[in-house]
Amino acid sequence: MSERWTPESWRAKPVQQIPDYPDQAALKAVEQQLAGFPPLVFAGEARKLKKALAKVANGEAFLLQGGDCAESFGEHSADNIRDFFRLFLQMAVVLTFAGGSPVVKVGRIAGQFAKPRSTPTETIGGVELPSYKGDIVNDNEFTAAARIPDPRRQLEAYRQSAATLNLIRAFATGGYANLDNAHRWMLGFVKDAPASSRYNEVAERITEALDFMRAIGIDPETHPEMRTTDFYTSHEALLLGYEQAMTRVDSTTGDWYDTSGHMVWIGDRTRQLDHAHVEFFRGIRNPIGLKCGPSMTVDGLMKLIEVLDPQNQAGRLTLIARFGADKVFDNLPALVRATKREGRNVVWSCDPMHGNTVKAGNYKTRPFDLIMTEVKNFFAVHQAEGTHAGGLHLEMTGKNVTECTGGARGMTDADLNDRYHTVCDPRLNAEQALELAFLVAELVKRERSGRERPEVEAAE
Ligand code: PEP
Ligand code: CO
Repeated sequence: MSERWTPESWRAKPVQQIPDYPDQAALKAVEQQLAGFPPLVFAGEARKLKKALAKVANGEAFLLQGGDCAESFGEHSADNIRDFFRLFLQMAVVLTFAGGSPVVKVGRIAGQFAKPRSTPTETIGGVELPSYKGDIVNDNEFTAAARIPDPRRQLEAYRQSAATLNLIRAFATGGYANLDNAHRWMLGFVKDAPASSRYNEVAERITEALDFMRAIGIDPETHPEMRTTDFYTSHEALLLGYEQAMTRVDSTTGDWYDTSGHMVWIGDRTRQLDHAHVEFFRGIRNPIGLKCGPSMTVDGLMKLIEVLDPQNQAGRLTLIARFGADKVFDNLPALVRATKREGRNVVWSCDPMHGNTVKAGNYKTRPFDLIMTEVKNFFAVHQAEGTHAGGLHLEMTGKNVTECTGGARGMTDADLNDRYHTVCDPRLNAEQALELAFLVAELVKRERSGRERPEVEAAE
């Protein structure tokens, strides 16, 4: 690993999950074209996110990361982006206020197109075709032609990412992210929610706090920071040719940044120490994530951390635990203990989605209770180990889809057929996501008050 890194040094390593493009000349032409396109994000923004994540690593803030499993060309619309952004802000307000913690906001958006798959092919009715690998690679339609990897789709993914990011930047800084707005949307949710009494108290406390602030002259008109928010983008940097093309030298520092998103992560299927993805990630300076599933060993994790974060920089590395509700206690404690023992300044975040996927007839779904149980177990492990449960990584949409079961409205397997729109994994709908935010806020609050108590006792 001490060999010289370049944006293309990954090409000399074994690689998983990268499609075989039949037209290599077309692929080369697309990658060349992408390399000449403007960056989507700036290195300075990625550094700002790294600083914010350093606070999470130090136990001073909470990371909320979420969005589609896979963005799609078909679902791209201003309404979808707006609904997602609104939901995200409401969740952040709940976590900030009820959880009593600053929230670092990172969308799985504006680049989340490439999907790793468990099997390279899919068989339906006796017909076997290559698996769908995300809209940046091929088409979800079950025909031989649609499943051929087409490099020109990378240009469309770039265009969609740029358009999405443009709207998000406008929402985040143009007044839409106003704290009063986020609160008003939340009141609308609480009014209609099936378990509204549970949320009313929090909503009322926020109303009182905002009223009090207004009374003493602190409001969005006079305080610009109440009108804007820092919102960052992230995706799994799976399609390394695309990522390489977007990787540029930052003129102020001379360092390499992958400018396709602020934060990028390595998936659970592509984290082999001597393979291409780890090679690519070690050289970029963005804050990065590493998915940790049940096959992650203590030794394997420590070696990966050494390669990915040799300088032990807080904010550089976010470990995203995704074990499954029933496996958290078996897997997570040893890993957390090892990072603590070695003094590793990592963020530990919980992805309660990918270990809790079950089959219901022809649908893949995720029961809300299992998702919540994984989060609770994650917090319990951190409490026992004296470490910080740093964040939450969700698959969610601002739309009223029927993809995950359970939640206060009691969605059942029979409801899945109504509005099952995801092109990949099942997402929490807006109501389920906000309900989860309220429940997680209680856990965040408990962690924070638990941490404060011993200090008070010591001072007495
Ligand atoms: C994902 O985040 O959509 C994903 C594929 O996750 P994992 O790599 O953890 O399976
Ligand atoms: Co997914």
